[in-house]
Amino acid sequence: MLEVQEIILAIESSCDDTSAAVVCDGKILSNVTTTQIIHAVYGGVVPELASRQHQQLILPVVKRALLEANVSKKDLSAVAFTIGPGLLGSLVVGVSFAKSFALALNIPTIEVNHMQAHILAHFGTAFPPPFPFLCLTVSGGHTQLVIVQDYFTFKLLGETLDDAAGEAFDKSGKVLGLDYPAGPIVDKLAQRGEAKHKFSEPRIEGFNFSFSGLKTSILYMLQKNMTANPNFITENLNDICASIQKAIIDTLLKKLKLAQEFTGIQHIAIAGGVSANSGLRNSLKLWGETSPNLTFYIPPIALSTDNAGMIGVAAHFKFLKKDFADIHATPTASLSVV
Ligand code: KG4
Ligand code: ZN
Repeated sequence: MLEVQEIILAIESSCDDTSAAVVCDGKILSNVTTTQIIHAVYGGVVPELASRQHQQLILPVVKRALLEANVSKKDLSAVAFTIGPGLLGSLVVGVSFAKSFALALNIPTIEVNHMQAHILAHFGTAFPPPFPFLCLTVSGGHTQLVIVQDYFTFKLLGETLDDAAGEAFDKSGKVLGLDYPAGPIVDKLAQRGEAKHKFSEPRIEGFNFSFSGLKTSILYMLQKNMTANPNFITENLNDICASIQKAIIDTLLKKLKLAQEFTGIQHIAIAGGVSANSGLRNSLKLWGETSPNLTFYIPPIALSTDNAGMIGVAAHFKFLKKDFADIHATPTASLSVV
């Protein structure tokens, strides 16, 4: 039997998901995530409520992750945590928990960049991409186009200048009266609709993105149609969702294709919560059919949205380099991928 080199307990608490995972030599043994439903009624994440919920949930979630992995505290080699980007109060809960847990067990801690972890989640799957690969990271707070040169070298090609792709889904859904987070709901309704409505396209040169104009364009379309028919939204919800989804995915695809042509990289990955979107996944499949020289890497849903498994996988590569965190490591709300 192969000898186990290291077992990492990973904590993710950057936004509204409290998650813990156990990762053994880079393999995810358990990945337990509790999504805080308290925010739905407020139409968005309330930071103060998020940190209080993390405080309540972190211990049961960690216990469950250890239990599911059949690992005891004394078997752990290190505790990994998300250092940023994210909500400061939420990050503080995960960071303090990880530090005290590790201190009590006399083991090191490993700090992990949340955006890098979304990308490195691919190394927790059976078919990780080879280096270098191109990654479109699309989440609730970020939209980034990255060249991944190795586990530790990320070159940022472009990012959003305003709203993130997930934010564009959530804000558009809010205008339609959908609950938070609206992204998965828009996705579900879009599958039953037709993209009949056109919205103004962002005119941003290069590899950067802009999604803030979409909300205004949707509002104008709704105002125009609702004057004639006050029930326009309820009667056309599926088509409106399909149109919003198409507008967002088309923008993402346009930039991703531009980046592929510019770099010539043939291995293309997506990551982050929006990579769970069926429209984005289907568009990549269609692109692949016309470009057989390209290979696409789409993470399983459990590794797309926020989860501690990805933190543990990223931490595994740092563990191998003995890249441990300082006890004084403090969370940073605004961290980019590089
Ligand atoms: O990566 P993530 O779980 O958290 C952040 O790091 O922000 O991403 C959350 C975002 C939310 O905006 C959510 O609406 C969006 O991902 N999302 C989706 C889907 N599933 C999650 N957006 C579109 N389609 C989906 N199926
Ligand atoms: Zn995320």
